[in-house]
Amino acid sequence: MPDIKVFKKMKQRNEKIAMLTAYDYPSAKYAQAAGVDIILVGDSLGMVVLGYEDTLSVTLDDIIYHTQAVRRGAKDTFIAADMPFMSFHINLDETRRNASLLIVEGGADAVKLEGGKPARLEAIKAIVDCEIPVVAHLGLTPQSIHLYGGYNIQGKKEKDHKRILEQAKATEEAGAFMLVLEGIPEKLGKEITESLSIPTIGIGAGRFTDGQVLVYHDVLGMSDIKPKFVQSYANLENIIPSSLKKYIDDVKSFKFPAIDNVYQPIDK
Ligand code: KIV
Repeated sequence: MPDIKVFKKMKQRNEKIAMLTAYDYPSAKYAQAAGVDIILVGDSLGMVVLGYEDTLSVTLDDIIYHTQAVRRGAKDTFIAADMPFMSFHINLDETRRNASLLIVEGGADAVKLEGGKPARLEAIKAIVDCEIPVVAHLGLTPQSIHLYGGYNIQGKKEKDHKRILEQAKATEEAGAFMLVLEGIPEKLGKEITESLSIPTIGIGAGRFTDGQVLVYHDVLGMSDIKPKFVQSYANLENIIPSSLKKYIDDVKSFKFPAIDNVYQPIDK
């Protein structure tokens, strides 16, 4: 099982880090077998697994439940679990308790939290102070959609570019061991990556981050929406319905079960 030092070494060696989300036993099993470096139990599970419009309704219990399943499927892979909306905002005691539950009950190795405001930096410090590794997350942070007015690329204007760059440096100073950069111009992703000693993991942040993360369902082509930064490597969106239809057709046309699918009594 890799530890957080491994990821820093990968950055130093210019070895790209492949992060992938997973939400349950089979997705974790496939992710581990494929050799991902780090699994993220993202709060994107609200959309891709639970059918919510956004990530805001995901609870701590949801993440714990799904992280437990992911841990069962990927015993030897480093797992980071997302801290859901409002689980690290109320006060530092609640923040520490919630982070510890993701580790102790969920079985995660690290937690991830969104944002770079001073209160979020305090949250990072408080969690790291409990010996829990933290992945920071800046740029287009989906828990901020109501403030941003939607899923808009962040850091396009000079003053926002500067602010996100400063926040990135501050997350490293606060003790984060890794930084996810989402939905920012490639130039900013590159500048942050070159300014930090911790690895950056991009999603819609260009080609120059130390690693990439994608959502499991996007990689497999099972998502309703397909932003520009997504690359699908399969088309399960078509394969799943056509396979299920074939099963139904076989039942209705007496083709399934066939002779090979049935049990026979022992010959006397
Ligand atoms: O919830 C999630 O899946 C994420 C990644 C997209 C970075 O935060």
